[in-house]
Amino acid sequence: MKHLIDFQDIENDEAKKLIKYVIREKQKPRNENLSKTVVMKFDEPSTRTKVSFSTASNNLGLYQIDLTKENTSSVKGESLKDEIITLIDLDVDLLVLRTSSDDKKIYNDFNEIGIISAGFGKVSHPTQALVDLSTIISNDGFDYEKPFVFCGDLKHSRVFHSAVELFPKLGIEIGICAPKEFLPKNLNNFILFENIDEAIQKSSGIEILRVQKERINNSENFNLNNYIENFQLNKAKIDKASDKLMILHPMPMNIGIEIDKYASENFRMFHRKQLSFGIAARKVALKYSLGLI
Ligand code: CP
Repeated sequence: MKHLIDFQDIENDEAKKLIKYVIREKQKPRNENLSKTVVMKFDEPSTRTKVSFSTASNNLGLYQIDLTKENTSSVKGESLKDEIITLIDLDVDLLVLRTSSDDKKIYNDFNEIGIISAGFGKVSHPTQALVDLSTIISNDGFDYEKPFVFCGDLKHSRVFHSAVELFPKLGIEIGICAPKEFLPKNLNNFILFENIDEAIQKSSGIEILRVQKERINNSENFNLNNYIENFQLNKAKIDKASDKLMILHPMPMNIGIEIDKYASENFRMFHRKQLSFGIAARKVALKYSLGLI
């Protein structure tokens, strides 16, 4: 079994293959009967990721067991390590896990079970990256000569951290646009845009990221009003964009914070297109982790 937690050890050709499979699976969905057992453990809320992993599992003929932090022995103090060993001994093949923890190393010890990140803390959301990149690549108007820009709360975004690992493997340069408190420590691998107007003018597409209020602590001196004034994608900004600009959002949106209502309903928005890749991306992730891709 293989883990899908990040893309660091995945070669460019393998990344291209995964995206090709997602696009093909969306165009020609195929039901299978793999008869393996998958535990879905979502310790943080989820709508999109949970529903699409569940549907993908149904389509692949997997037996699903749903767990949450509250209904497992975690509440009695059991460690995650002991929990994973228990799942292995009970013949579980895959663990799809959403957790608030940023720890990615703990899973290296386990080869008998495939572990897939359904969102780890601030650091990893690989299937969202597969969704987003499949959406971008499938758009005939996408211009590889220009960067794709992530705008907003980069610091706390697992969507951003997985995209940074995956997108360059398919030749896409990454731009960033954020207030200084949300910028990555190392800016070397990015094209920095000072403001969202510039990002809109010079990019092939932008992904607006949610302000992760639940992960921002008081010491970070985040000023919400300043953020809205300077970095919100709003009517004035979006109306100046090219008709061909793709605007993505991983969802859920906070209308009135990172985006206003007018922009969220604009024809340039691709968030529903992103959702349409959700099940295909999770089917590919499950099959990858079972060693079938
Ligand atoms: N984009 C995303 O991960 O959405 P959910 O939290 O609803 O799964």
